Amino acid sequence: MIDEKCAILRERFDRELALIQDLQALEQLRINFLGRKGALQELMRMIPSVAPEERPRLGQQANELKNSWTQALESKQVELMSQGVVAALGQKRVFDVTLPGHPPALGHQHLITQVVDEIVGIFERMGFAAVEGPEIEEPFYNFDALNIPADHPSRESFDTFFVKKSASDTGTEPDAYLLRSHTSPMQVRYMQKHKPPFRIVVPGRVYRPDAVDASHCFQFHQIEGLVVEPDVTFADLKGLLAFFARGFFGSSTRIRFRPHFFPFTEPSAEMDVGCIFCRGLGCRVCGQKGWLEVLGSGVVHPHVFKAAGYSGKTRGIAFGLGIERIAMLKHGIDDIRCFFENDLRFLHQF
Ligand code: PHE
Repeated sequence: MIDEKCAILRERFDRELALIQDLQALEQLRINFLGRKGALQELMRMIPSVAPEERPRLGQQANELKNSWTQALESKQVELMSQGVVAALGQKRVFDVTLPGHPPALGHQHLITQVVDEIVGIFERMGFAAVEGPEIEEPFYNFDALNIPADHPSRESFDTFFVKKSASDTGTEPDAYLLRSHTSPMQVRYMQKHKPPFRIVVPGRVYRPDAVDASHCFQFHQIEGLVVEPDVTFADLKGLLAFFARGFFGSSTRIRFRPHFFPFTEPSAEMDVGCIFCRGLGCRVCGQKGWLEVLGSGVVHPHVFKAAGYSGKTRGIAFGLGIERIAMLKHGIDDIRCFFENDLRFLHQF
């Protein structure tokens, strides 16, 4: 009787287990057979009613059922769970954490910024401090204070964008503002606020109403240099600029100075470097000259010191160079428009 009853239960369990498709149904099966009111407990409750000598055998069989069902339920559970993972992998939203990711695109400094930093760094090694000035400037600083009076013909060679006076002006504003056409206005601005001796470089944006082509733009960058020290001479200017040229273009770079004219320096000179493309032999870039013009310089004119409120005995040297031009020469770039068109294929190369 006992054996029969157990065999029936075992068979029923196996049959029902085989039909199970999901974890919920599996849990229900467990409750039905192993739960507090389940088939196994029912079997146990029969123990008192069977003959005493049969009781151990019934207990043993109930134990066996319990163990084999527990095991069967566990392995069915594992099976159903792994089926669930496989099904989930078949769906789109699952991702494989072992695949390599997409690195986020990283930006870097614009070539102009890199070149400015490099040039400023070379001058810092010679004791210069870097300062900056306003891009919207007063005509006084851009012209008059630099020995370029209003009716002087040289003002025309510094073509300029003017900015209209604001409507709310109460009469305290200068007649007009302008977009500085060079970084030289900072010479006088700095001198008005500082006492010599000092060495400064002034990087910044400048503006001129030029038609845009491969070598011109209405906006570009310059670095100004100004040294005001008691005994500074033109020879110091040559020494400083030679150190710069060799630091920037390479230690074997040749330099030469050509007499030139600037209203704010006297004497004035332009500096050339030996053409870095043809090594002085003559090519398209240097116009067969073997030399490339890179900057303007000179000994500060006494009128500039006067405008700054300095004494007549003050001595100084100054220079100014165009960043785009120098960057184009160093990196073999043949169109200034590359710097501001923001084409990533260009920018990524530097
Ligand atoms: N400001 C001049 C220019 O823009 C360059 C320069 C600066 C020349 C300082 C001499 C001294 O062309």
